[in-house]
Order: sequence, then C-alpha cells, then structure tokens
Amino acid sequence: MKLRQPLRTLGLPCRDRWRPRIRGCVAVEVTLVNALHAMRRDYAEHHLDPGMFAEDPMKQFKAWLEEARDLEILEPNAMTLATVDGSGCPDARVVLLKEIRPTGFVFFSNYASSKGEQLRCQPRAALVFFWDRLERQVRIVGSVERLPNEESDRYFASRPVRSQIAAAASPQSRVLLDRRELQARFDAIALTCGTEGRLDRPATWGGYLVAPRSIEFWQGRRSRLHDRLRYMRENDGWRIERLAP
Ligand SMILES: Cc1cc2nc3c(=O)[nH]c(=O)nc-3n(C[C@H](O)[C@H](O)[C@H](O)COP(=O)(O)O)c2cc1C
Repeated sequence: MKLRQPLRTLGLPCRDRWRPRIRGCVAVEVTLVNALHAMRRDYAEHHLDPGMFAEDPMKQFKAWLEEARDLEILEPNAMTLATVDGSGCPDARVVLLKEIRPTGFVFFSNYASSKGEQLRCQPRAALVFFWDRLERQVRIVGSVERLPNEESDRYFASRPVRSQIAAAASPQSRVLLDRRELQARFDAIALTCGTEGRLDRPATWGGYLVAPRSIEFWQGRRSRLHDRLRYMRENDGWRIERLAP
C-alpha cells in the first residue's frame, strides 16, 4: 500500500514513521497510523444459528476449540486473561487454557505474580479467545478460584522437567537485575534435580478455575453485521440472547 501524503503534513512524531524499502530503491513513506486505518477485511466464512448451538456453552466452546485446533491455528488455546487490582485498575496478558471442565476453564500460573495478587484481591476475570482463520472470538466472564493443591500437583508433575524448573526459578512479575540472574536461578535448581529428575511443585505455582457467568460467541459476518450469541447463567441453566454487533 502506498500513501503519498508527506509525513510532515500529518504532524506525526518521528516514532510513528514507517519507511519500508520498496524494490527498485523507491522509498515510500507510509505512516503506521494510516496503514492501520486502511487495514480491514470483510468476514464471510460462517454464521451463527442459535438453533444449531448447543444448550450448554461449554459444549459449544469445545466444538469451536476443536475446529481451531484442526485448522492448526498457532496456540488455539491461548487466551487473554483480564484481571483488576484492588483499586480497580485493569491488567491483561495471554495465558494457556489447560482444561475445560463442566464447571469452567483452567489455567496455571504463579500465585505470587501480578495476576496472582490481583486475583487474590478480586477473584474475578475475563477471558478472550480470538481465532483469526475462523473469524471468531469468544468472551468469558466469571469468578476465579484456585484449584485444590493435589490437582495442581498432578498437573505440575506432568510437565517437562525444564518447564518445572523454569516455573520454580522465575519470580514471575518481579524485577530482575538482568537475564543472568534468571539463568543462575534456573541452573541452581537444575543442579538439584538433574535433567531427568522431577521437582516438587512450588507452593507459589498452581491452577485457577474460571467459573463462567457469561460466555459470548462472536462470528465475523459481512459488512460488520457480525453475529453475537451470549449465554448468561440463570438458575441451573443458561439463557441465550443475541447481541447487536
Ligand atoms: C502464548 C503465551 C502463553 C502464555 N502462557 C502462560 C501461562 O499459561 N501461564 C502464565 O503464567 N503465563 C503465561 N504466559 C506469560 C504471560 O502472558 C505473562 O507474561 C505472565 O504470566 C506474567 O503476567 P503478570 O505479570 O500479569 O502476572 C504466556 C504468554 C504467551 C504469549
């Protein structure tokens, strides 16, 4: 894409400039801002028919995740986890979904990390999945609780030993002096257990269950008239409603 408007007339600071070299040595100035404005695609692959949706959103979620996995989407189980701290300030990061249970969504992390602290103060979270090739998004909101220790022990024991060592070595979210500090921590723990050995789960590492109170399925459609179906917890079941895009 070529944008011919000179950068200076856009009044943009230098850091917003993006100058790709075009074959034939013609340098075309393109602003990232304008490139972002121009980036759009029409979604036309699928649609949502409430009549074809499972009554249980966990079942529906599994079906969508399986489709994403079968398409070999990179990290189909990667989800954005949003939390808030004690003063209501939001934060978000990507984590991996590790289990789907009838009661909710499980991920593992460091209990002493920023997210761990936030979840201790405010045990509620939102999860977002985006599967680009399917033009789909899933949003989940719910309460969060830690898994029982025995369940975290079981999962920790199933991880490759280097992942176990890394989990024990990383004081997640804390400031490090430099990368060497982290490597030294890793090497010291590796010495104690050997590469074939096993570690006990650190008390600061374990699982969380997000128990959903709402799950929204979003399917991209033509002309931005997307489909959105939201399941809301109601008594022992779920109420399904269609939302405007
Ligand atoms: C694809 C991907 C998967 C990740 N999976 C996890 C995970 O399962 N658990 C975890 O604690 N951090 C995971 N991370 C790292 C987190 O995004 C984050 O950097 C880390 O948990 C610290 O977050 P916090 O400081 O907000 O607590 C992952 C990052 C990426 C990009």
